[in-house]
Amino acid sequence: MGGFFMAQNKHADRFSSTGFIMSAVGSAVGLGNMWKFPYVTGQYGGAAFFLLFMVCLVLVGLPILLAELAVGRGGRGNASSSLTKLSGSKSWGALGFLSVAGSFFIMSFYGIVAGWTLHYAVLSFTGELFSTQDYAGLFGRFMNSWLPIGWQLVVMLVTALVLIRGVSEGIERFNKVLIPSLVVLLLLLAVQALSLEGAGEGISFFLKPDFSKLTAESALVALGQAFFSMSLGMGTMVTYGAYVQKSQSLGKATIAVGVGNVLYALLAGLIIFPTIFVFSIEPTQGAGLVFIALPAAFSAMPLGAVFGGLFFVLLAFAAITSAVSVLEVPVAYASETFGWSRPVAVMLVGLLCFLAGVPSALSLGEDPWLSFGGRALFDWVDFVCSNVVLPISGLVITIFAGYVWKGVADEARLSQAWFRIWLFMLRFVAPVLVLLVLLYYAGVIRI
Ligand code: PHE
Repeated sequence: MGGFFMAQNKHADRFSSTGFIMSAVGSAVGLGNMWKFPYVTGQYGGAAFFLLFMVCLVLVGLPILLAELAVGRGGRGNASSSLTKLSGSKSWGALGFLSVAGSFFIMSFYGIVAGWTLHYAVLSFTGELFSTQDYAGLFGRFMNSWLPIGWQLVVMLVTALVLIRGVSEGIERFNKVLIPSLVVLLLLLAVQALSLEGAGEGISFFLKPDFSKLTAESALVALGQAFFSMSLGMGTMVTYGAYVQKSQSLGKATIAVGVGNVLYALLAGLIIFPTIFVFSIEPTQGAGLVFIALPAAFSAMPLGAVFGGLFFVLLAFAAITSAVSVLEVPVAYASETFGWSRPVAVMLVGLLCFLAGVPSALSLGEDPWLSFGGRALFDWVDFVCSNVVLPISGLVITIFAGYVWKGVADEARLSQAWFRIWLFMLRFVAPVLVLLVLLYYAGVIRI
């Protein structure tokens, strides 16, 4: 059998050290920062919520990120087999499989939203976006058409093309081009937003905390957001960790990804809040904020078509660098488990994932048969992945690294003091907080 179908044992394909940092930042920075983050910040308390998000990031996000990377590099396998190898028990591998399944389904809906951003970028540059005043109607008509599925296919093809080339030639090279472009676009748009007359109100909503706005629910949402935005609990960082060289410091990489992610969220907020406040738009309007409220704001702005177009390109870039990391999880799993070569694994998994996303994409139209329990299928998949699979897998990793895996210290290679702090977080702080989120969503605790 030729090398096309079966995996060949060639040199291990690994990241360079900057390539890894860029790829991990590329995974973390995504729709979570620019589409979800602004609207949950708007809904759950503005600046005070942002502070809570940072607390969650430090107490839970960073310790789990380091744990995932260490498990991946120690096990040198996919998100399931790494756990089996390190523990010698298939049960841990089965728990790890949950994150493989989760990333498959995350990709099925993430690719849909990434597709919307491409569509809006095109509409904006052609000026078509600004030929209407009814942005909610425009979004609704788009949802009711077949176009979202076409764009979802485009996203899947681009993602597959990157993954087919492998880790250093594909994932790393792609991120090394896109991340610097992302930074330039982000800075440009931030300068533009901050120079709008009356930007101050948006800035203070975003940065001046008013703690009376916080509720206990805000804390739980902030924790969930910290998880999603750091790409945790989906096997992504375990999978990427397996491609990191032994000489790289995982501690430093963890800090770099955390700081990169917060800076990005900060700048994204500095673009979005001043823009919507200047044009008197409510920040609390939910998932439509970016696709309904922002076009309205751009349409009232000088050179709005250009800035609007650039904004959606930025969003699309951020989304696709994350999509690449999400799809890699089931691809790595399939190629290792079934012995498939990378191109075959990418094509089969990509195709299945595209097909799995189609019903979700259709469920946002007016088809009531794809909605149950008051939620469209799309929202169910998001809800179950983000609030059930993600925290359970996060819990699995903290318990595994904190209590089960004996070699954890050798792989993490932290100084004595940092190691103690880390282990304390992994054993006592992170699992308790994650459990609270789970129990809350399970309806066991009410606030
Ligand atoms: N972190 C990404 C974002 O903020 C989403 C993501 C979740 C990526 C889980 C990988 C795994 O958009």
